[in-house]
Amino acid sequence: MSSTLPLHMYIRPLILEDAHDVSELESRGFPPEERASSETIAFRLTVCPELCSGLFIREVEGQEVKGETLIGHILGTKIPGANDSNRQAFITLESMGKVHDEASSTVAIHSVVISPEHQKKNLATLLLTDYIQKLSNQEVGQRIVIIAHEPLVPFYERIGFQAVGENESVKKDPAFGKAKWCDMVRELVKEEYES
Ligand SMILES: CC(C)(COP(=O)(O)OP(=O)(O)OC[C@H]1O[C@@H](n2cnc3c(N)ncnc32)[C@H](O)[C@@H]1OP(=O)(O)O)[C@@H](O)C(=O)NCCC(=O)NCCS
Repeated sequence: MSSTLPLHMYIRPLILEDAHDVSELESRGFPPEERASSETIAFRLTVCPELCSGLFIREVEGQEVKGETLIGHILGTKIPGANDSNRQAFITLESMGKVHDEASSTVAIHSVVISPEHQKKNLATLLLTDYIQKLSNQEVGQRIVIIAHEPLVPFYERIGFQAVGENESVKKDPAFGKAKWCDMVRELVKEEYES
C-alpha cells in the first residue's frame, strides 16, 4: 500500500487563504445539497481554523518547492450544547451552517473528504487519526461528534467513534432525509507522557 502513497505529504491547519481549494474539494466530495457553501467554509476557516485540517502534497522539482495541492480536508466547529444539560449535543440542520460556539466542549466534524484520485489509500484514516490526536492533546474539547451515512458507520467505528442512533434533526430536511444519517461520538482523552 505504501508504494502508492503520494510523496511529500503533510497535514496543517486550514486558513482563509485555502478557502477556494477547500470549496473545490468539497464539491468533489458531496452532492450540492450536502456540501458546505463558500460562505460557510470561509466562516469556519475564519473563526476556528484550528478545527479545520488539510492534507497537502507539496510539489517539488529538484530542490525547489513549486506549490502545494490540497488532497483532503476535515472541517469542524464547536456546536452549542443541548438545552437539557443531561443530553449530549449532536449536529443539527442549524449547526451545519455558520455556527461556532467557542465555549462548547463538543467539536462537530461537518465534512471529511479525500480527493477521488487519492481515495482508498488510508488517507482519511490518517487525517482523522491526526485530528483526534491533536485535539485530544490540546484539550480543545471533550468529544467529537459526526453524522455518518449508514454505510460509513463501520469506517468511523474503526477510528474509535461509537454509533448512538439516527440523527433526529437532519431527517426533517427533504434533501438530507433521503438517506439515513447516524450520530456518532468519539470522546477525546489526553495522552499522558512519562516525564
Ligand atoms: C469517505 C472518504 C473520506 C474515505 O476516504 P479514504 O481516504 O478513501 O478512506 P480510507 O482509505 O482511510 O478508508 C477506506 C475505507 O473507507 C470506507 N469507505 C469509503 N467509502 C465508502 C463507501 N462509499 N461506503 C462504505 N464504506 C466506504 C471503507 O471501509 C474503506 O475501506 P475498504 O477500502 O477496505 O473498503 C472518501 O471516500 C470521500 O472523500 N468520500 C466523499 C465524501 C464523504 O462521503 N465523506 C464522508 C462523510 S463526511
